[in-house]
Amino acid sequence: MEFRDVVRRRRMIRVYDARPVDREVVDRALAHATHAPSAGFSQGWGFLVLDTPADVGRFWAATTDDGEPDVWLAGMRTAPVVIVPCSSKAAYLSRYAEDDKGWTDRDEARWPVPFWHLDTAMAALLILLTAVDEGLGACFFGVPPERVPAAKDAFGIPAAFDPIGAITLGHRVPDSGAPGSPATRRRKDPAEVVHRGRWRD
Ligand SMILES: Cc1cc2nc3c(=O)[nH]c(=O)nc-3n(C[C@H](O)[C@H](O)[C@H](O)COP(=O)(O)O)c2cc1C
Repeated sequence: MEFRDVVRRRRMIRVYDARPVDREVVDRALAHATHAPSAGFSQGWGFLVLDTPADVGRFWAATTDDGEPDVWLAGMRTAPVVIVPCSSKAAYLSRYAEDDKGWTDRDEARWPVPFWHLDTAMAALLILLTAVDEGLGACFFGVPPERVPAAKDAFGIPAAFDPIGAITLGHRVPDSGAPGSPATRRRKDPAEVVHRGRWRD
């Protein structure tokens, strides 16, 4: 698929059919994730991959309420694979304390934005784009903050790593399930968000 088509076709998919995802496809998505840029080449990321019904079930049990699932959750739970991209602030503070960077005080005020989350999000985008390239669907979504400790505990995520969200992956079922915000909002045109030379007069 042409790169421009991959980008144009990418949408968050919130319901999947019963077919499993080939292990090689998941591995390609993860390999692409590791080609994301990272500040100082820190690569302070880790990817928890859940690709069995039992593990995926444990993910939803840890991150959602008991009881009847709503449309969103019923759809998302059909995904055969969940990937949890995690970022490590400690890895960046340590990397930038090395000789070639020299931020030995490890002062977080030095960071214009949290590069650990930024880099892991770029890796997550590569997973989303790989899904499209492979003819699959995927959805990045947030893990409720009060559920993060349970998720970390359930899967042995080290204290130094934090989920930045999670990604469902599977064979897409088009035009069904919860459509998400695009049902009520439109994509902004480049002319509305691009400010050439100067933002305002
Ligand atoms: C940081 C982030 C968090 C998101 N959280 C959720 C979420 O919790 N649930 C969900 O269904 N979609 C979530 N989305 C998907 C957005 O709703 C979606 O990207 C947006 O509506 C644009 O639609 P599109 O990605 O299909 O083009 C999230 C996306 C991002 C980038």
